[in-house]
Amino acid sequence: MNAVLADILTSQQVSDGTTSFPLRHPDFPDLPVAVDPGEGALLQRIVDHIRPARSLEIGCAYGVSSLYICEALSRLPAAAQASASATASARPAGAPRHIVVDPFQSTQWRGIGIKNIRDAGFSSLVDFREQRSEVALPRLLEEGMTLDFAFVDGWHTFDQVMVEFYFINRLLRVGGVIAFDDANRRSINRVVRHALTYPAYRVYATERGESARPTVLGRSRHALTRVPAISGILRPDFLRKDWDLGILGTCVAIQKVTDDKRSSGWDRAF
Ligand SMILES: C[S@@+](CC[C@H](N)C(=O)[O-])C[C@H]1O[C@@H](n2cnc3c(N)ncnc32)[C@H](O)[C@@H]1O
Repeated sequence: MNAVLADILTSQQVSDGTTSFPLRHPDFPDLPVAVDPGEGALLQRIVDHIRPARSLEIGCAYGVSSLYICEALSRLPAAAQASASATASARPAGAPRHIVVDPFQSTQWRGIGIKNIRDAGFSSLVDFREQRSEVALPRLLEEGMTLDFAFVDGWHTFDQVMVEFYFINRLLRVGGVIAFDDANRRSINRVVRHALTYPAYRVYATERGESARPTVLGRSRHALTRVPAISGILRPDFLRKDWDLGILGTCVAIQKVTDDKRSSGWDRAF
């Protein structure tokens, strides 16, 4: 493991170079401020399997998730080749590019996330955008960006994450993966459930394991959703529980398996 990440995990402290701070949210000490090791391991497995050339992360804070992702990116053959031929100033062709979006990096987080990325030797992988996601994501669309992987861990309201999912869906190639952190919170669970109504998405993995698959009971209950008289009166989250969908977990990843071809009239309960 990268020494900077290992040190943060062992000490549960971060530093701006002068002062140390606990690895906790400065305003809400009870809220998680970083992915846990199980979630970090899932992010690394996704990178190992998807081998993203273009990835995105929303919400950097002290940079723990960025360190997990960049560590896995740096092991990819394309990154190793690129760093062997790198000049100090230019990002070599073929090198992975990890776009990190966080509007409060230099204020609330005192630049510690970027410092950790730099100290770990990952600066050449990262394109940092100190912007709100609702500003950065439309810009990426305008730039013609295509993503292979996105990790969503910013502001956690339903509407914010829904807007982020809207743009990521537009940016993501077929085969690409989106991971949502804190997916056990109702606001984010609702977005994941909504995304899974699209024919284009299926569950890829959770931090609990790769093989979270719908149960037989779940599939039978799901069959009821095709009976209009029943589906009209029962709540969709009764007919398809989270464990039926295979989305129990704090970090849930979904994969785009086909183009999103929904018509303008598309509307499914979730
Ligand atoms: C839970 S922290 C991220 C933790 C980080 N992913 C990790 O695991 O180390 C949430 C982050 O979202 C950022 N954030 C808040 N509003 C945002 C917005 N509109 N767009 C992007 N990021 C936002 C905050 O500044 C904060 O850094």
